[in-house]
Amino acid sequence: MKQNNSFLTGCGFHLPEKVMTNHDFESLVDTSDEWITTRTGIKQRHISTGQACSDLGYQAAVQALHEAGLTPQQLTHVLMTTFTPDTHIPNAACVLLEKLGQRNIAAMDINTACTGFIYGLEVARGLCALSEDANVLVVASEVLTSRVNIKDRSTSVLFGDGAGAAVLSGSRPPGHELCGNLTDVCLKADGSLGELLTVKGGGSAYPLRLGQMVSENFFIQMEGREVFKHAVRSMFNVSMEILERNNLRPEDVNLVIPHQANIRIIDALAKKMNLDPDNLFVNVQKYGNTSAASVPIALGEAIQLKRIKAGDLVLMVAFGGGFTWGSALVQY
Ligand code: COA
Repeated sequence: MKQNNSFLTGCGFHLPEKVMTNHDFESLVDTSDEWITTRTGIKQRHISTGQACSDLGYQAAVQALHEAGLTPQQLTHVLMTTFTPDTHIPNAACVLLEKLGQRNIAAMDINTACTGFIYGLEVARGLCALSEDANVLVVASEVLTSRVNIKDRSTSVLFGDGAGAAVLSGSRPPGHELCGNLTDVCLKADGSLGELLTVKGGGSAYPLRLGQMVSENFFIQMEGREVFKHAVRSMFNVSMEILERNNLRPEDVNLVIPHQANIRIIDALAKKMNLDPDNLFVNVQKYGNTSAASVPIALGEAIQLKRIKAGDLVLMVAFGGGFTWGSALVQY
């Protein structure tokens, strides 16, 4: 497999303290723990109580920097992947930069919905290819509850808040116990399917006027069934594409970390790829769909649980609104 100079040296993740169980939803909308569990695999999700995107991202970033053995002052770039930034301006990356006590480096947001982290990895890989001195912090943080209509049972039960982070460096740090080489990333998008999953209100095509109340389009709106089908097909295709162009087969992968949206999507992907359940990471039951944050939360948790060891090949794959989708290979 070809080697690149982009080394994943540290990961971190953070969930807000408050937990909302399926039973908690039963008093809010016409639903049941049984329906949510069987249709999604989700049992609970973590909910922000006033923390913004950069607050959750900061906690994940501090952990990732600690793991990488770097201080914020050694960073060269901060990338924030989110569709729920603290504010439109300043962007969430600048707010995070200030919280980290760093200045005078590049800081930008990337919005590709649930595929955000994979897109962030590819941008970081490019920056690392430009300079072996690059230390790029990629943070994926979402406060989805700020864009969920609690009264819409078909979406409100699916999402949770959280953040994950990774540090990528342009050169391999000496003496690092678990260091991944981000060997390849494969990104896709198709705007023709955008209407199936939207958050429109407040955008320039759907401006809010002073004093106007928000309507349903301010929140996540989704054609769940259609999204489901595309998610399975696209995540399968982009997983196979990245494996094939690296002369690999699914059985060569030690751990597949899919976007955690719905256990039925993950199971369908695993079945199509003929994956051994031991080689599949699942935590959707605890956190629900945390959008861009779901893959780095799962990566951080997999490392914490020692599901990834030196020598392992890890495949990450995600799908999201836009539509966007992508996969990434990390050789540890
Ligand atoms: N509780 C109880 N009933 C619910 C419900 C809830 N939370 N949400 C929807 N329903 C109802 C529907 O109203 C519908 O009722 P009807 O038959 O009387 O009209 C019924 O359940 C079936 O709805 P349907 O949408 O066909 O269910 P489904 O099996 O497709 O499951 C999703 C719905 C949303 C769980 C599923 O489509 C899904 O996971 N889609 C992908 C969503 C996703 O993960 N998106 C993010 C990808 S990045």
